[in-house]
Amino acid sequence: MKIHTKAVHAGDRKRPKPQIPVTTPIYAAASFIPESAEQVDRIFAHEIEGYSYSRYENPTNLALEEQVTALENGFGSLACASGMAALETAIVTAVTDRRRFVLAADALYGATYRLLWNVLEPLGIESSLVDVCDLAAVEQALERHKPGCLLMETISNPLLRVGPIDKIAALCREAGCVLIVDNTFATPLLVRPIELGANLVMHSATKYLAGHGDVLGGLVTTDEAHYETLRALSRTKGPVMGPFEAYLTMRGVKTLPLRMERQCQNARRIAAWLREHPKVARVYYPDDPAHPDAETVRRLLPENLYGAIVSFELREAAEPEQVYAFLDRLKLIVKATSLGDVHSMILYPRVSTHRDLAPKQRERMGIRDNLVRLSVGIEDAGDIMADLDRAL
Ligand SMILES: Cc1ncc(COP(=O)(O)O)c(C=O)c1O
Repeated sequence: MKIHTKAVHAGDRKRPKPQIPVTTPIYAAASFIPESAEQVDRIFAHEIEGYSYSRYENPTNLALEEQVTALENGFGSLACASGMAALETAIVTAVTDRRRFVLAADALYGATYRLLWNVLEPLGIESSLVDVCDLAAVEQALERHKPGCLLMETISNPLLRVGPIDKIAALCREAGCVLIVDNTFATPLLVRPIELGANLVMHSATKYLAGHGDVLGGLVTTDEAHYETLRALSRTKGPVMGPFEAYLTMRGVKTLPLRMERQCQNARRIAAWLREHPKVARVYYPDDPAHPDAETVRRLLPENLYGAIVSFELREAAEPEQVYAFLDRLKLIVKATSLGDVHSMILYPRVSTHRDLAPKQRERMGIRDNLVRLSVGIEDAGDIMADLDRAL
């Protein structure tokens, strides 16, 4: 089955029988009554399927988890309360029975660094950074640190680097290291990391999966080897999504392939137009033949689906005030901290996603003070360009 069909059908119309609702309802229940007292014991022992308590399993969440598992071609998934909860749960799952060391890409979402340095490091999970677009550097770092897991984003935030997941997965396998991929920017329409050899995939479902700006959520999908550890951890730690958010996310995922196709198409047009704009110094978009990872982009991303984020640097904007003035002139594009929604959104990484990094580190990562990140929506591309043009 193709992804467009799976998105609409997977997970739904299975429970409860015999009256089967066409969409999975919101099961707003903390606990469930068994048919008999003996059944409780068997459900807790995992001898039979069934629901006991929503921190363990919830029917609405389970339907969403099945849907995302189908899209990612994984073994099983866990719906979490946020992308960060999903990420933390994925990392802890990966290092539960391995060396507590995360080898992380040096181009990640800002809060991911805070998770590594401020939350996990004090708990004894160390980390080090590597350029995942440099395979020799990855090989050396694997040899040197012997990490329990390697963490990377499919398309990095905000400079849209694309690491060779398949080749990194092969190196990780050899080194006995678990590969975790944050697939938020690419979505399973573009890349399914487990098919390329990754072990765990996570999403901020807040973004493209839900897609309408009304959900905070996350998903972790795993291969067979890590699923039971993930669920066991979650049953105790309880990072789970609420059933209302699971319902909204599931509804969003049904149109994910359609939205994403349209958003990628719009983004490509807008990137090409921005490249010619006299007020724009530089455009970052993966379809660029001069993109530093052009070969990987050609190999891993489907033709014409290069993601829906376009980052660009403003000319004549040496000071943040000039960037603020540009942002304040926008009327249609929403100035808010997120991405992946049906409406176009823009943010200034220096003061939002990457604000906690030292200026020197931002500079090292190539995130300049005149860089803005545009998340392209499903609107008419001409209207988005007109808004940008007016503001530039
Ligand atoms: C790539 C990426 N990963 C993870 C997250 C965290 O997700 P959430 O905000 O849902 O916790 C974000 C949020 O912007 C993100 O962009």
